[in-house]
Amino acid sequence: MTNEQTPRLRPALDGIPTYKPGKPAAAGAGAGAAAAAYKLSSNENPYPPLPGVLEAAVAAAGSFNRYPDMACAALTAEIAERLGVPPEHIATGTGSVGVAQQLLQATAGPGDEVIYAWRSFEAYPIITQISGARSVQVPLTAAERHDLVAMADAVTGATRLIFVCTPNNPTGTAVRRGELERFLDRVPRDVLVVLDEAYCQFVRENRDDAADGGIPDGLEVYRDRPNVCVLRTFSKAYGLAGLRVGFAVAHEPVAAALRKTAVPFGVSQIAQEAAIASLRSEAALLERVESLVAERTRVREGLLAQGWPVPETHANFVWLRLGERSVDFGAACEAAGVVVRPFAGDGVRASVGEREANDILLAVAEEFRKEW
Ligand SMILES: Cc1ncc(COP(=O)(O)O)c(C=O)c1O
Repeated sequence: MTNEQTPRLRPALDGIPTYKPGKPAAAGAGAGAAAAAYKLSSNENPYPPLPGVLEAAVAAAGSFNRYPDMACAALTAEIAERLGVPPEHIATGTGSVGVAQQLLQATAGPGDEVIYAWRSFEAYPIITQISGARSVQVPLTAAERHDLVAMADAVTGATRLIFVCTPNNPTGTAVRRGELERFLDRVPRDVLVVLDEAYCQFVRENRDDAADGGIPDGLEVYRDRPNVCVLRTFSKAYGLAGLRVGFAVAHEPVAAALRKTAVPFGVSQIAQEAAIASLRSEAALLERVESLVAERTRVREGLLAQGWPVPETHANFVWLRLGERSVDFGAACEAAGVVVRPFAGDGVRASVGEREANDILLAVAEEFRKEW
């Protein structure tokens, strides 16, 4: 044995792109702070925790010498009642990305294929590669939407799981009921379809969306289809990103498989209590969502008025397909005081945040447009 020897790691890990979190804002975020004071790079909720939710979390912190309730029983019961689904169909996890990883552990391995649209949520390629399965990326349409016909065409005997991200991160577009039903009718019943609805509370149907059955609620789609699973999170609309709690709604045996693949005690008691308090404060939280939706409309309309082609967005962010200029735009935003999320060579995603932050984004975009 030589000192150069290292433990043998799975070859599947070679070349995995590391998850790039949205850059943080500079210290002292807020009015009057130095450059890059605002963070619009991770689709977080800019509002601080509601007082009742914070109190619930602080109270739970008083017993963090104990393990949390591993079954998340109280939270599961609360979610089940609200959504009108059996508690056995709910599986909680450390954020919905944690649950997505469990879904892969439960369904896919070497030799298998996982289909998703591209560009979509950055974690999909990473967690797919970790599972050992192969990613099959299906390009978005020119309108930045899922191409569900092409995704159904991409199914082979090796397909085990398909992610449908709606609204899609980072483009904001949502699938419609008709196209989704036609897609599901073509997918074999032994392939799991995951409707990732991390941003569903931000969906507002417009006239165009009403065509083809409108934008579906994944829960209605899941009810009659045992191979459909819905992913939801407390990180976005509910503002609990830092506490890491999300869940799946799935039929047996998928829900049971999620319980098997869960990290034991993964969801802290603080997160569980805060999530319960959030559900009980839903009206106040959804009021905040409404304000963010109003800001989203203002930002998108401002960008459209400047001449940018911004796709309709149903999430708490906007997408600018800036191609080779994406990184430059990100740098210009940062210099002006907001951090956005550039995807090199592709586009820029900017979360809808505080009004002042959104104003800075609009001002940078206006300047940029002049030299476009
Ligand atoms: C589409 C989508 N799904 C899932 C997640 C994961 O969220 P969390 O793990 O915080 O629940 C995100 C976060 O950005 C997302 O954009």
